[in-house]
Amino acid sequence: MSKQDEQFFNVFSLVIGVLVAITIGLFVLARIVGFDLQGQYAGKEGLAGQEVAARIAPLGQVAVAGQDNTALAIQPDDPSQTVAAVALPADGAATYVAVCSACHAAGIAGAPKAGDHAAWAPRVAQGKATLYQHALAGYKGQAGYMPARGGRADLTDALVQQAVDHMLSLL
Ligand code: HEC
Repeated sequence: MSKQDEQFFNVFSLVIGVLVAITIGLFVLARIVGFDLQGQYAGKEGLAGQEVAARIAPLGQVAVAGQDNTALAIQPDDPSQTVAAVALPADGAATYVAVCSACHAAGIAGAPKAGDHAAWAPRVAQGKATLYQHALAGYKGQAGYMPARGGRADLTDALVQQAVDHMLSLL
């Protein structure tokens, strides 16, 4: 091997060595820089994957006899989510205040005003049974329209009758 060749090989090896060192350096640098980002995007993809899985999940699942179907048990509604039914008034007076007074306190829409003797006299003359009946079933008279149970369909018969009694006691 001539001296020139030897020199060439030395320089050539040196250049190859430096290039390899730079390559390894770049690789390590890329790993360091990419490590964080990779984590981020992998996490995102995981979430996206979950969302997609939720969207394409089957609507129904089949319970198979003889297998553990506990995961399919119908969950009771979250009680905090359900709106509590409006409580019934305690007695006739409370029913009058909560429901009937909306019309009967001021005599709205032709309703005979509570305590108004003149307005109630002919009605009372019909007898209590008729008043109860009209209060319970609703009643369209000449003065206007009395809705069944004052519009509160969940009122019990007894509460409506007690409310009538209460209104009559105001006379
Ligand atoms: C939306 C308004 C309204 C509410 C609420 C209402 N009433 Fe009346 N009520 C009327 C009207 C109007 C009349 C008169 C109808 C007529 O004679 O033309 C009437 C009439 C009556 C009469 C007389 C019926 C008759 O035969 O003359 C009674 C008794 C009565 N209401 C009881 C009640 C009771 C009890 C409640 C509550 C549970 C109630 N009302 C709630 C509008 C209302």
